[in-house]
Amino acid sequence: MEPPAPPPRIAVVGPGAIGLSIAAGLLGAGRAHVTLCARTPFDELVVESGSDAFRGRPRVVTRPDDAGDVDWVLLATKAHQTEGAASWLRALVGRGARVAVAQNGVEHEARVRPFVGDAEVVPVVVQCPAEGLSPGRARRNGPLLLTVPDGAAGRAFLALFEGADARVECASDFTTVAWSKLCLNVTAAVAALTGLPMGVVRRPDVAALTRGLVDEAVRVGRAEGARLDDGLAASIVGAIAAGRPDAQPSLVRVAIARRPLEYDARNGAIVRAGARHGIATPLNGAVTALLAALSDGFERGSTLRVGAVRRVSVHDPPLTPTTSPSGGVTSGGASATRGRGR
Ligand SMILES: NC(=O)c1ccc[n+]([C@@H]2O[C@H](COP(=O)([O-])OP(=O)(O)OC[C@H]3O[C@@H](n4cnc5c(N)ncnc54)[C@H](OP(=O)(O)O)[C@@H]3O)[C@@H](O)[C@H]2O)c1
Repeated sequence: MEPPAPPPRIAVVGPGAIGLSIAAGLLGAGRAHVTLCARTPFDELVVESGSDAFRGRPRVVTRPDDAGDVDWVLLATKAHQTEGAASWLRALVGRGARVAVAQNGVEHEARVRPFVGDAEVVPVVVQCPAEGLSPGRARRNGPLLLTVPDGAAGRAFLALFEGADARVECASDFTTVAWSKLCLNVTAAVAALTGLPMGVVRRPDVAALTRGLVDEAVRVGRAEGARLDDGLAASIVGAIAAGRPDAQPSLVRVAIARRPLEYDARNGAIVRAGARHGIATPLNGAVTALLAALSDGFERGSTLRVGAVRRVSVHDPPLTPTTSPSGGVTSGGASATRGRGR
């Protein structure tokens, strides 16, 4: 009789809303050795879901040298934090691990390839409304669904989740799954830029803009091989308008918290892929530029505050931004706080 296979060793890099939700699923199934690779240490993992909470005490490491050998690296940082997590990726894949990239967008493999050599990369489309609460603690507001491309690596990934509180699907047409999710993700830009919840699409003018953003994504996605319906933009915008007006997707929550935004993997990816196919994407180009400016401002803590401008009277000297000792820009007596580098 064959001896049982040893438990898979999995390192989750980026234990935020999604990393913790996935780790909780794996820990709950009790079949894998899970190590959480964090930059902010914590002792206990807690994932709230409805009135329940999963609690666990997994191994948490904060230095790549302490992670040990693993079979899988599951990257769950925000897409723009991938380069910052490069030292984890380099150290962990050097020991022969496969890499699963659980991030939004359609460029999973290209994003990690510079840091993982020729390691096998499995892109993962994540569907799970979740939010990080504090280091080690997250809230899941719905089921966790992970979709990977069908094939040997995809099926090996699926096997990791046997018995876990998560649904994993191997898709024969992963391109369509990833682009369908991106078509939905591009819509959050209108809320992040206005600082309003998704109910802003109930305005006819914003609805038209949002349909335009999705229509560009549909045209580019089709050129990339995704099967996307003509009516997708109208149905996405209609569903958002019919949904809760106070809905805040993760991009909006991050904007409210004034932290760097994951815009490049979303609207920026449409512009890049559009350029490759000679497809014009002016709306996504425009919102990408505005989100980039907003995100950079959050990163530098250099946003002029409206309140400061309102206090200026005709007798005041001209409003000149000055750099504070902490690197933030202050003006009119209102100092801006430095956003956290996420
Ligand atoms: N949240 C959702 O509802 C949702 C749904 C579907 C897909 N997604 C996608 O899933 C991905 C992850 O999103 P998320 O919402 O889970 O983000 P998140 O809550 O911000 O979590 C990111 C985590 O990565 C950590 N991190 C960043 N740089 C790191 C580094 N160099 N080393 C180690 N850890 C690092 C952060 O640590 P700190 O705490 O120290 O900052 C944070 O814990 C994104 O691509 C997102 O678009 C999210």
